[in-house]
Amino acid sequence: MNKNNPIGMVDSGVGGLTVIKEAQKQLPNEQFIFIGDTARMPYGPRTTEEVINYTWQMADYLVTKKKIKMLVIACNTATARALPYLESKLSIPVIGVIEPGGKAAHLATKNNKIGVIATEGTVESGAYDTIIHQYDTDTLIVSQGEPDFVKIVEANQYQDQQARDLVMTHLAPLQASGIDTLILGCTHFPLLESAIQAAMGSKVKLIDSGRETVQIIKQTLDELNLNTVTKHNHDYDVYYTTSPNSDDTFKIIATNWLTRDIALDVRHLQIIGSQNQQHLEEIAMPKLIVASNNAHKISEIEAILKSSHINLEVLPLRDLGGNVPEIIEDGHTFEENATKKVQAIAKIAPNDYILADDSGLSINALNGDPGIYSARYAGDHDDDANIDKVLNNLVDVKDRSAYFSSVMVLIGPNKPKLVATGKIGGTITNQRHGENGFGYDPIFFVPTFEKTFAELTAAEKNQVSHRGLALQELGKNLPKWLKGE
Ligand code: DGL
Repeated sequence: MNKNNPIGMVDSGVGGLTVIKEAQKQLPNEQFIFIGDTARMPYGPRTTEEVINYTWQMADYLVTKKKIKMLVIACNTATARALPYLESKLSIPVIGVIEPGGKAAHLATKNNKIGVIATEGTVESGAYDTIIHQYDTDTLIVSQGEPDFVKIVEANQYQDQQARDLVMTHLAPLQASGIDTLILGCTHFPLLESAIQAAMGSKVKLIDSGRETVQIIKQTLDELNLNTVTKHNHDYDVYYTTSPNSDDTFKIIATNWLTRDIALDVRHLQIIGSQNQQHLEEIAMPKLIVASNNAHKISEIEAILKSSHINLEVLPLRDLGGNVPEIIEDGHTFEENATKKVQAIAKIAPNDYILADDSGLSINALNGDPGIYSARYAGDHDDDANIDKVLNNLVDVKDRSAYFSSVMVLIGPNKPKLVATGKIGGTITNQRHGENGFGYDPIFFVPTFEKTFAELTAAEKNQVSHRGLALQELGKNLPKWLKGE
């Protein structure tokens, strides 16, 4: 088994993210791949057979496709129902959340009265009772099924006042029962931790079984000598089983809960087959081909898509191989040229989204020249010759005002053309300043920064540039366009 392989984690929904969050803190070098079976949650009311079946499908996907070195069942219900089955079927270590939570509660209680809140499935299984009574048969256990808590969390309402009120009402009998320790026996519940603590009072110790489980993961990695030897720079890999067209609640909760600045790159798994013959497969993300090989442009587009929660795999033109036909930019407007580019690419990639831009510099004293001829004003894509020609034409000219404009055109299978524009005004300097950028950047002076484009960092330029502004506009209109509105 390769030590550098990832650790798999599964849950019915967002609950397992509470375990992943803790695991990332305590095991920052490990890579985790998480699956939330959102299409079939909640697991709480399901039969043992169903829970075994679904949990197995996730485990099987992680083992065969992702080569995980360890499986963590970050779900109490699935642990209660399916742990022995998975242990018997898999040759990698399988860790559940119930034993660590039960043990921690046994060690924490002073009056030997422990409460358990969990799904109805976990309560019915009696799994916590079995574990705790292994340590002390005299411990009094008060268990309460709380399926509504799962619903509140999955609906992203866990921070609402109504949720606090409901938790308060539901937990009143448990609070009155005299327990001094309460197990959060469902991995969804740590998202409600502050409401639960408020309902139980500060004297009752809450046990987060997920957090306790991370200790066991650590211990097992040490014992089996399975700690990764390379630090993974990967981001979280998070999958869920609801379809890409469903709402984004999972992604929103995941992004907030894992305190991310940008939306999480969440992928979809499809449930293939019927009833007992099902398995999971990754749904290929639609591709967005950018008519450019400029790495900077590509990552700028990726960032904008992510911040709009849009799942598209952004690829540079070169990824199409050498098949791209030559594109002659002889249109009369930027839009015409950009449209020619996307149409030419669409011929060889008819099922993908395609984005192209055409941009140029317009100088007022030169009646808008070089305009659409910007790249070939003096020589084909010869930046130096182009700049010299502009400077020569402007010798002794007082009005040096100019603007850069950019038109972006996006097309997709069975979609109308989406056009976005951006424009920035400035002046033409007498000589070149700065080394960054390309084209006319060294002679285009931007008043906001009091520098030429070529003196700005890429990030500064993107904030104000014609292309940056066009991309921002595109990002705003994209979600509706993709939904066909
Ligand atoms: N998060 C799961 C658990 O720990 C179950 C929630 C559900 O799907 O009912 O039990």
